[in-house]
Amino acid sequence: MKSRQHFVCTECSTSHPKWQGQCVKCEAWNSLETISISTDAKIKTLQATGNYSGDSAVTKLADVEISDIALRWSSCDPEFDRVLGGGLVAGSVVLLGGDPGIGKSTLLLSTAAALGQERQVLYVSGEESLQQIAMRAKRLQVPDSANFTLMAETRLEKILVQISKLKPQCIIIDSIQTLALESSTSAAGTVSQLRDCTSALVTLAKQQGIAIILIGHVTKQGQIAGPRVLEHMVDTVLYFESDPSSRYRFIRAVKNRFGAADELAVFAMLENGLRPVTNPSAIFLQQRQNSVPGSIYFPNRQGTRQLLIEIQALVDQSPSPQSRRVAVGLDAQRLNMLLAVLHRHAEIALFDYDVYINAVGGLKATETAADLAVLMAVMSAHDQKAWPLTCCAFGEVGLSGEIRPIPYGQERLEEMARQGFTICFLPQANMPNKAIEGLKCYVVNHVSELYAIKNRL
Ligand code: TYD
Ligand code: MG
Repeated sequence: MKSRQHFVCTECSTSHPKWQGQCVKCEAWNSLETISISTDAKIKTLQATGNYSGDSAVTKLADVEISDIALRWSSCDPEFDRVLGGGLVAGSVVLLGGDPGIGKSTLLLSTAAALGQERQVLYVSGEESLQQIAMRAKRLQVPDSANFTLMAETRLEKILVQISKLKPQCIIIDSIQTLALESSTSAAGTVSQLRDCTSALVTLAKQQGIAIILIGHVTKQGQIAGPRVLEHMVDTVLYFESDPSSRYRFIRAVKNRFGAADELAVFAMLENGLRPVTNPSAIFLQQRQNSVPGSIYFPNRQGTRQLLIEIQALVDQSPSPQSRRVAVGLDAQRLNMLLAVLHRHAEIALFDYDVYINAVGGLKATETAADLAVLMAVMSAHDQKAWPLTCCAFGEVGLSGEIRPIPYGQERLEEMARQGFTICFLPQANMPNKAIEGLKCYVVNHVSELYAIKNRL
């Protein structure tokens, strides 16, 4: 077998045909690493001649047994189950990435204890000693009766031996960057080790129906360290995120073969571990007592549920000729477009003003459905008149100033009513067929109507 070498950046995974000191994409220094690609001459001859031999089983779709795949195990944590798509799937591999100290080990130790009650679980730590894990378990009040197996090991061969002895149904690896195949010469955490270890574990999961959760470190850019190929190899990719100033933690599903991508789970980090927050809208709502200019709520669709997010705007006279537009948790390009629409179709010019918009609580509202709410927050910040406290809005804004319908209107309206909102601004096509108790809906067809509606309130 012949092999060809190429070079991959450990920071951003860009591939380079030859070695160089700096990555062309992310400009990181000394981040390129060699990986080998095998170019098997035999495969090439087969492709050329079409002379394939050797058997591999084929089957009809209807004959495939799906009982094993459909098996889902609850982690006993409603939020973690939700982001997994309804529980952990047997034979699947989940990759959980996040900043150091965010709570990855904490969450998965509790998960190991919960899953261990009914099945054989193996928790492998390459980062902490058994004593450190035991201390954390004490803090998390894991009962002594918890029935899972611990192992502090980084050599994958040794781990595989234990797996064949113990026959666990679920394995947790903390973290994939610390694992190494002894047979390989490269160090743990390098691109080739990461790829080979993950590939061995994925094969094991698929062949034996074991559910595997891998913890992954993230780079400075917030991506899982190592090649992007890691994310392609696994079934589910979850990112642990948080607002540095808050005790709330979020897990976002960016890929899920067994559930909705973009699903969000919310937790609170307490003295004794992570607690699920099952009604997250309520925690963000309780922080607000009075109506203030520049603020309005938006029912954001996250995976399979609605989350009410406060959108804030600040419009201030710009000290420099070049005014600033800053968006935190929202799309900055979209803000520029919306301000142009506001000028052209509602005659509100903000050239001399700096405009800041923010999705409160470290949340993200990147849906176009947030357009109307953003414009209303900006308008209110500009004229210093607040919208009522229990007012929210949704709708996409088109370039000719029209307000366009958005998906999941009914679900968003129901969530608003549940959370005690009384007024909603929305596009005509999203008007509910049946009135929703306690919620008054105002149709907005065009941005130019907003002032008239505001004066009527
Ligand atoms: P940890 O799970 O070790 O993070 P990671 O594995 O993602 O690096 O979490 C460590 C942080 O969480 C640490 O700053 C302390 C805090 N913590 C609590 O607040 N409460 C707890 O019960 C535990 C175990 C940790
Ligand atoms: Mg850890």
